[in-house]
Amino acid sequence: MQGDDLLRPNRTQGGPFIPKRPLCLIRWVVVDEQHGRDLPSIPGVDPAVPNSARVWDYWLGGDEFYPADKAMADEVERVLPDIVDQARADRLFLRRVVEFFAGEAGIGQFLDVGTGLPTSNNTHEVAQRLRPDARVVYVDNDPLVLAHARALLTSTPEGMTDYLDVDMHEPDRILDLAGRTLDMARPVAITMLGVVWHIVDDDDAVRILGRLVERVAPGSHLAISHQTDEITGQQARDAVDMWNRDAAPKGVCRSKRQLEELFTAVGLELLPPGVVSCNRWRPEAPDVLPGEVDQFGGVGVKH
Ligand SMILES: C[S@@+](CC[C@H](N)C(=O)[O-])C[C@H]1O[C@@H](n2cnc3c(N)ncnc32)[C@H](O)[C@@H]1O
Repeated sequence: MQGDDLLRPNRTQGGPFIPKRPLCLIRWVVVDEQHGRDLPSIPGVDPAVPNSARVWDYWLGGDEFYPADKAMADEVERVLPDIVDQARADRLFLRRVVEFFAGEAGIGQFLDVGTGLPTSNNTHEVAQRLRPDARVVYVDNDPLVLAHARALLTSTPEGMTDYLDVDMHEPDRILDLAGRTLDMARPVAITMLGVVWHIVDDDDAVRILGRLVERVAPGSHLAISHQTDEITGQQARDAVDMWNRDAAPKGVCRSKRQLEELFTAVGLELLPPGVVSCNRWRPEAPDVLPGEVDQFGGVGVKH
């Protein structure tokens, strides 16, 4: 598979905006004075508070952000210049991981927690290219992601997709509702990319991931990607501190060792190559970015 369709051109590289999808909402307008355009505002969304889904979308070259998101994204990028590569590496990791699940691991059911705004190569698109009958349940608690959920619900006729507007801190609710679409007696591939860092309390992380793992069938897998400080050290820690001062939801940096321990704590066997920089996880030319980034990822299996 080629790497060209992975990501929209990034604005830091001077690429053009490519509108992703129509937004059909009851809306009022926030004016982006810098770009002279009107932005939709929706109930439950505070445009003044920079937010994870929208800032991530900005770094990925998307167009669903408010001025406060852009200001925060630019500020973080000033402190941590690698952040855009981290976001891109994360999405490439997502694609390779989902291809691994649907191919080598033979899994046809996916639970994507902390989905983010739709972009290219969403989980169901990657999975259904290999397995048209793949079923995918998306989970996010952001109102703007919910507003765009229909872009995630375009399944093949043989497969199925669903979207749950649920907080990941409620793993039982997630699994109860996911059971409408997924057969919980069979293995499920759970992806939690760029979202576990929003579980700031370590015990809570073990509780949430542990409960998800406990309730899925043997043979299920869990993929995590997470902000670390392994490569950029203080830059990454400063960026997270900056984020936590003004943006939502709060986040935490975890080390490679802490992430390895998290997999072990919830009873998973880490698959090779373990927890590594996302672009070092089963890399494939030509879609791998050069250099390691501080978004680390790993995959564990439940026996
Ligand atoms: C950094 S984005 C990552 C998106 C996508 N998984 C990716 O890797 O490109 C984090 C996503 O997690 C979602 N999120 C944050 N806290 C959450 C929570 N408590 N429950 C569900 N989703 C959450 C945000 O709304 C956002 O869409």
